[in-house]
Amino acid sequence: PSALRVALLGCGVVGTQVARLLTDQSDDLAARVGARLDLVGIAVRDASVPRDPSIDRALLTEDAQTLVEGADIVIEVMGGIEPARSLLLHAIAGGASVVTANKALLAEDGPTLYRAADEAGVDVYYEAAVAGAIPIVRPVRESLAGDRIQRVLGIVNGTTNYVLDQMATHGLALDDAVRQAQELGFAEADPTADVEGYDAAAKAAILASLAFHTRVTIDDVSREGITAVTADDVAWARQTGHVIKLLAICEASEAGVSARVHPALVPAEHPLAGVRGAFNAVFVEAEAAGELMFYGRGAGGAPTASAVLGDVVSVARHRVLGGKGPAESHYAQLPIAPASSA
Ligand code: NDP
Ligand code: HSE
Repeated sequence: PSALRVALLGCGVVGTQVARLLTDQSDDLAARVGARLDLVGIAVRDASVPRDPSIDRALLTEDAQTLVEGADIVIEVMGGIEPARSLLLHAIAGGASVVTANKALLAEDGPTLYRAADEAGVDVYYEAAVAGAIPIVRPVRESLAGDRIQRVLGIVNGTTNYVLDQMATHGLALDDAVRQAQELGFAEADPTADVEGYDAAAKAAILASLAFHTRVTIDDVSREGITAVTADDVAWARQTGHVIKLLAICEASEAGVSARVHPALVPAEHPLAGVRGAFNAVFVEAEAAGELMFYGRGAGGAPTASAVLGDVVSVARHRVLGGKGPAESHYAQLPIAPASSA
């Protein structure tokens, strides 16, 4: 094809930046893909509200269902379980490849999407669903597929890292720091998902599934958020040479797989202690590769849009040149340690 039809679902913090990059970089993207990427519509809840001036209002529609029909590539950055899941299944059934940043959906019911995509012979790509701009999904899913990963550990939620950082360095109250994170576009639509650890747990489930070639859902992840962390805790940590960080830890042992999210005391000299603001960092330990570290912006419109666009180029190349990304509907189910939540 000389052009591919791209449908965008969502025009919020991330969607606005995705639309901008698709437009601003259209010539470069066409050269990289070998076909033009035509943005044919942007689905929103309310097409009448003011938008960023970079958005072509003629593309806005409240009819997402019709928009995905006839699309070659559907980008989902609306969030939530429904209608995102039904729309993506409808898109896949119609032969579209899918790019999504929706970790909540993937951690709850990713396999339904992966199975549908494998049956239809199309791609589901989701680099932006874990750690924003940081390439972590592809390295774990593809580059390390020949190795044996033992542990994935790190900071995978930008909002809570920003909040804990603001509490430690500026003495801000948790609620005030959360409000700032919302204004900066780091937080989820409902920031409870960030501060209670659900967002990090969803990412842990995705990473554990990929790292250990099994199915881990958000319900399998033990979870404790940061709402119980007080100013006194932060001050005490500092006095004793530590920093409080919300960590996600996924491990595989003879007994099976475990995944957990909880605040932890990190020694001030540890590399994770130096991860500031909404940045994320993930360590991967693999048998042959040894220890790898991934670091970068974990949240925000433009960084996340970068990861989305990278996926769009990959799935678009498959449509132009043939081929398909890794299939994920045939993993073995390993034993998983029971989860607990605080
Ligand atoms: P926003 O809340 O800013 O934007 C959501 C967009 O989706 C809005 O344009 C909204 O329409 C639209 N939308 C929501 N529900 C519907 C619906 N039922 N029908 C049609 N349109 C709908 O979210 P973000 O951009 O922050 O996040 C989007 C996704 O990206 C989420 O899955 C999130 O987890 C993920 N993500 C976000 C990151 C970030 O830093 N913000 C980073 C990584 C991933 P309207 O504008 O009319 O309300
Ligand atoms: N709310 C998420 C965070 C967005 O703060 O990390 C990126 O996934």
